[in-house]
Amino acid sequence: MLEFSIDEETCIKCGECAEDCPASVIELGDGFPAIDPEKEENCIQCQHCLTVCPTASLSILGLSPEDSIPLKGNFPDPEKVETLMLGRRSTRRYKEEPVDPALVERMMDVVQNAPTGVNRRSTRLTLVEDKAAMDALRTATYEEIRKVVEAEALPPGLEFFGGMLKAWDKGKDIIYRGAPHFLVASAPTDNPSGPADTLIALSYFEILANSYGVGTVWDGYAKWALTVVAPKAAEILNIPEDHTIGYMMAFGMPAVKYYRTVQRPGGVVDRITV
Ligand SMILES: Cc1cc2nc3c(=O)[nH]c(=O)nc-3n(C[C@H](O)[C@H](O)[C@H](O)COP(=O)(O)O)c2cc1C
Repeated sequence: MLEFSIDEETCIKCGECAEDCPASVIELGDGFPAIDPEKEENCIQCQHCLTVCPTASLSILGLSPEDSIPLKGNFPDPEKVETLMLGRRSTRRYKEEPVDPALVERMMDVVQNAPTGVNRRSTRLTLVEDKAAMDALRTATYEEIRKVVEAEALPPGLEFFGGMLKAWDKGKDIIYRGAPHFLVASAPTDNPSGPADTLIALSYFEILANSYGVGTVWDGYAKWALTVVAPKAAEILNIPEDHTIGYMMAFGMPAVKYYRTVQRPGGVVDRITV
């Protein structure tokens, strides 16, 4: 049941909800929008109808438009967004203290609203939340790598993990950069947009976290470690067997401060014009 309802007192019959519905399930039979029960299953529950209604007259999924944040005047200035994108850095030095749990919770909620193919929303975020869990993951990772190094079984091309183990033994955590938290995004393997969905979710998280002053670093070393070199260490994460890991990110309060943006040359843009 979609719990689709219209406040006929305020609806102005503009048809925007029907026009914007990606699945074309909303019809304007007698002028007021309605969904044919037989078409309900085609609704992808994207909530565009709720968000596009200019008079807040439409409810779907039992949601009240009043509980949405109004957009007028509430988007950040583009210059600020640009500065955030240029000023965000990969953080490789972290304070030991954890990020405020309420903030982490809030960010998890927002990130779950990142776009997903067909609004499937199947991305799973695995959050290593507290110090004890992070320490357990960190230790398990290096100890599993140690077994592989001692067995001289590092996969070709990944011999540098031997050097990371040596650094760890001297007190330097190159894989997790000493971060107090870790986030893994995975999606059901049979979801064709799963790989994209997971990367989008982490990209949203990265930008949002940095806007709150929380540092992040995409963690390819950890992905190699936990999926190729020492997958046993990943057991602690309990990723479902029918899921594929998209990527991983370490995060925490930065122990480094950046004062200005980078100035990188533009990348390749192939312009196709006629
Ligand atoms: C897919 C991906 C994997 C990465 N893996 C690591 C990593 O394992 N360790 C690390 O310190 N940085 C990692 N980085 C961070 C990059 O090195 C960094 O983005 C790049 O040097 C540019 O620096 P910036 O992010 O501060 O602009 C990764 C970045 C991406 C996008």
